[in-house]
Order: sequence, then C-alpha cells, then structure tokens
Amino acid sequence: MIRYKDINKAHIITEQYSKLYNESINNNENFWSKVSKRIHWFKNWDKVSDVDYSKAKIKWFENGKLNVSYNCIDRHIENGHGDDIALIWEGNDILEDKQFTYKELLDEVSKFSNVLKSNNIVKGDRVCIYMQMIPELAIAMLACSRIGAVHSIVFGAFSSDSLRDRINDSRCRAVVTQDTGVRGLKKDIPMKENVDKAIIDCPSIEKVFVVNRTSSKIKMKINRDLWWHEEMLNISSDCKPEWMDSEDPLFILYTSGSTGTPKGVLHTTGGYLVYASYTHEVVFDYQDKDIYWCTADIGWITGHSYIIYGPLSNKATTLMFEGVPNYPDFSRFWQIVDKHKVNIFYTAPTALRALMKEGNEFVKKTDRKSLKLLGSVGETIKEPEWKWYYEVVGEKKCPIVDTWWQTETGGIMITPLPSMDNFKPGSAAKPFFGIEPIILDPNGNEVKGNPAEGLLAIKKSWPGQMRTLYGNHKRFFDNYFSQFKGYYFTGDGVKRDKDGDYWITGRVDDVLNVSGHRLGTAEIEGAIGQHKDVAEAAVVGYPHDLKGQGVYAYVTLMTGVESNEIIEKEIKFKVREIIGPHAYPDKIQFSSGLPKTRSGKIMRRILRKISEGEINSLGDISTLSDPSIVESLVKNRK
Ligand code: WT7
Repeated sequence: MIRYKDINKAHIITEQYSKLYNESINNNENFWSKVSKRIHWFKNWDKVSDVDYSKAKIKWFENGKLNVSYNCIDRHIENGHGDDIALIWEGNDILEDKQFTYKELLDEVSKFSNVLKSNNIVKGDRVCIYMQMIPELAIAMLACSRIGAVHSIVFGAFSSDSLRDRINDSRCRAVVTQDTGVRGLKKDIPMKENVDKAIIDCPSIEKVFVVNRTSSKIKMKINRDLWWHEEMLNISSDCKPEWMDSEDPLFILYTSGSTGTPKGVLHTTGGYLVYASYTHEVVFDYQDKDIYWCTADIGWITGHSYIIYGPLSNKATTLMFEGVPNYPDFSRFWQIVDKHKVNIFYTAPTALRALMKEGNEFVKKTDRKSLKLLGSVGETIKEPEWKWYYEVVGEKKCPIVDTWWQTETGGIMITPLPSMDNFKPGSAAKPFFGIEPIILDPNGNEVKGNPAEGLLAIKKSWPGQMRTLYGNHKRFFDNYFSQFKGYYFTGDGVKRDKDGDYWITGRVDDVLNVSGHRLGTAEIEGAIGQHKDVAEAAVVGYPHDLKGQGVYAYVTLMTGVESNEIIEKEIKFKVREIIGPHAYPDKIQFSSGLPKTRSGKIMRRILRKISEGEINSLGDISTLSDPSIVESLVKNRK
C-alpha cells in the first residue's frame, strides 16, 4: 500500500472522493458553479452551461468576463506573492538556468503584449508560436492571452510544410520564433529558417518576431522580421488585460485525426481555465511552495495545460526544461529534480522506457528526496515502467497518477488521486469530478456493470471540453458527436474492472501514438505519396519497445520501378521533410499490391495484424478482391 506523504493535507482524501464525485454528477451545475470561483472574474457569469451535443454546441460560464494572464499573474501579485518564483527555466546545458518571479513575469508579459499591440495585433487575431522550450515561449503565450490574441503553438520539431499548413488554416497574422534551437547535442535547429520557408506561401503573415537564443547567423527581412530584444527595449511594461468573454477563443492547437488534414482544436477562455486550474490542483495535489515539473513540450496540450495555464493559475512554481533526458547523460532528469528540489514530477511512459533501459545507476546517483508525487501521461504506463518509476525513481514513497486525457478534453479526465491507496499499474483508475465515462458497444449501446469493455465515450460536458475545430464546425460534429448520439466519442477503447477502475486499451481509429506523439496514418500516407515513385501507401502501427507504437508503411511503387534501399531512404526522408522527424517510418515493406475489398477499400485490419506479427489470426480474408496478396505480405514481413 502506498502512503502519500502529504495525505494529511491533501486537497481530496480518499474518503471524500465518492461523495464528491456523486455530487459532481448529480448536481453538476452547482458543482462547477462552486469550482468556477477559484478564478477571478471581472464580471461574473450568468449561466453555468449551455450544451447541446446534437448541434455540437458547448458553452460554459456564459457572459462571464475574465483574463487568463491576469489570473495567472496579476492577481497573485495583488495578493502579495509578487516575489514568489513563477517560472524556473532550466537550459539545455547544465549551469544554464533562469528564474522569473511573478512580478518579473508580469513585466515581460506586459512588454511583449505591448509589442504585439504596437504591431497592430488585436483581440481575435491568431498568432503562431514556433519555438523550442525557452522562457519567451511562455511569455509569448501569456501575452497573447493578455490582449485577447489567439495563439496557435506549433511544436518546434514540425517541418516547414507542416508549419505552413497550420498557419494558413487559421490565417495567423504573426509568427513568434527564435533564431535557432538547442536540444541535447543539436545546437543549431533551424527555427527561423523553417519559418522563412513556410511563410513564402502564407499570405496572412505580416510580422515575424525573432528571439535571439543562439546568436546564429540568420536572415532578417526588413519590415517583416523584428528582433524580440529590440522590440522589448523601449516599450512600456504596463498593459491592461483585455476583458475576454468566457467563450472567447484562447488558443488553437492542431492535432491529428484518423482522416484528412490536422484539426485545429479550439479551446475557449473561462471553462478551459477553470478546468486546467482545478485538475492541476487536485490531481497533483499542488500545495503552496511545491516545485512542480512537467517534462512535456509546450507545443502539445500537456504543456499548455500543465506547464503554463494550470500551474500558474494556482500560483505554482513551474519548471520548464529546454533539453532532453539523455544530455549530458541519462541522469539529467534526476539531476534537475535535485537541483531545483522538485516535488511533483510529470512525464510520459516513452521517456521512462528510454531511461529504464540504461539501468538504475543514473537514477541512484541522485538524491530525489524532494519528490512527493509522480505523474504519467500520453499512453498507458505498463507494469514494467510503472514498477521502475515507483520503485527506482520514487523509492516506493511516491504515488503515481496515470492521467488519461486528450488535446480535445483540455485537461485530465480519468486518473487516480494521490491519496488513494489501491494503485493498479496500468490503470487510469477513476473518473475526475464531473466526468461521466460511458462504455459503448460498436452499435452505440451502453455496456453497463462491471467488468465491462468497449469504446470510451463521455456523457456530460465538462468546462475544459474543446468547442469546435477552427473554421470547420461540421467536422467537429462529424468527428466527435455523430457516431454515437448524445455522447462525446474519444476514439479510445477501454475496460472497466470489477472495482470500477478504468484501463485504457488504446486508439480504435487510425490514429497512432508514437513516443507520445499523435499521428494520423492518413497524414503519413499523404507524405509518402509525395515521393514520385510511390503509387500507393498504407500505414499502420506496430508494438515498439521504446516508442510504444512504431510506424509501419506498406508501399506499392509505380509500375516498372524496382524497390531498393535508396528509394526506401528517400521515402523515409520525405516523411521527415513533410511532417517532421517524429513521424519517420520505422519500417517500410514494398508490395506489389495492398489487401483491398472489392470496392477498393484497404483492409487495414489485416495490415495491422501482419505488422504486429499476428499472422495466424488474420480473420476472414475471403472478401478481398485478391486474397493472394496476403500471402506475399506475410512472407515479406519486416
Ligand atoms: C490520446 C490523446 C493529453 C495528453 C497527451 C496526449 C492516449 C493519453 C493516456 C493514458 C492511456 C493515454 C489516448 C488518447 N493517452 N494519456 N494515461 N493512458 N492512453 O494527448 O495527443 O491528444 O493524445 O493519448 O489514446 O486518446 P493527445
């Protein structure tokens, strides 16, 4: 049994969970009404929620007025905490770090808000942020929220093509970037150069703000490109926060779906902040003065909600790290924990697997006494890495919260709470307050009782729920609400055990989870298809020791073209060039054809089985237009 160190002051103790959970479901509006008071409203809201899934209409805290940066910074200063540390930045190289008190953060954010304003960025404009993990990234996003501009952060590893498409989809007016980036041994990641390439085809971009991170030589275009440090020189550090409506957009974040181009998930202001703030406090049991570190990149939702908005709204000290877990060596994470006395540590199973395989010495040579709680996100944390995390990293003193959620949900949805005493490795345990998970069969009927297994849907709305896909409300409805009426459909499979604990079994759609990065098979196929010799491609996932899932591509070449190693490399590079290194295919299998139904639909189920090595359970292949293809695919399996 795990005994949580702070059990006596925990925000929620085990005995309270059921009672409060039932209350949150049975008296939902009252529950969220109370929770909403944790943030500051310039003008109170009139109505808790207004939701109609049949139209994909979702509103929370209607007519309330607030500002996110005010809630994350100013109000803590007004409450006398201006000299508390808001942000600790740990650079790529040891000895390189910076700290910002809440007062200092306010100064920087206000100045950059004024820079944006003086460059004609106004409320409602979209601003793209394409950076590595440097403090200016946090400052830029908070500045956007201060003036009501909508940020769209594009993960710094995305290629210039991906960046271009995302900028164009939401017609951003400006980009914030840096000269080059440093990560581990890579000292010159061409950030500005990628922006330059991307925006050749982005007519909406008027300004590019460039942070000097490395002083590498880059090109600056007169009148368009501006140095961050020059703009920040003679500008006022006083900027009134804009009064935003609860339902005004806060940010857009692109994520992959099973089909088509990436989707611009849109989150709004009031509900998102209430949800990020409350979940951060309760799930991580954030206590005053705790040092909190989430290792995610801010380019993903985890970084938005649990490096910046959740923690800062709770007056936390939040740490952001520019580097990688294996530089200068595999003990870097634990060295940082010791250096900054981190109490709460939140990471992904893929990072744990990579560290675990290097042995325990890298962990054991550090102290880690400050840790009280560990968290996991991104995929199921399986027993071996759970045990390693618990026994070696946490020395059996820290509970592990395995938090299930999605870009779309804005915050944590299913998770153990630290005070619970029956942690089960691999189980995300219980629904968070106000969250009603439903298990459906493929026909949309609820599978009741325990145990149960099926598709994971969510019944009631919750404040952090996404509101639309930018510019495409119909796609929003079709993707999430059309298949099963009256529910939000997650795309995940799930089991519920006899105790009512949830176990996520993974995506049931054509979405891959590669090292915690979400990738659509259709996107990768599209990129492969851009190689001149490719006739057709089908991509599936397969179990990969380190990445969780690896990318397995079946490729048919144009008639007359022979497959060889050069083409294979070129195809892999094509994917890197068009999407980014995180989508790089692990395996390519050339084939004269793909298994298709008579109507021409590729039978991915069969391809998945082959790539997973389950060649004895391929199921019925008699409906294929050419069943003999399967035999050769199995024979040439990689
Ligand atoms: C998908 C969402 C939001 C966090 C980062 C990923 C998988 C996420 C868990 C977990 C099992 C998990 C799901 C989900 N996932 N957390 N604790 N256990 N699976 O966000 O890129 O939107 O991906 O990640 O499959 O649908 P995302």
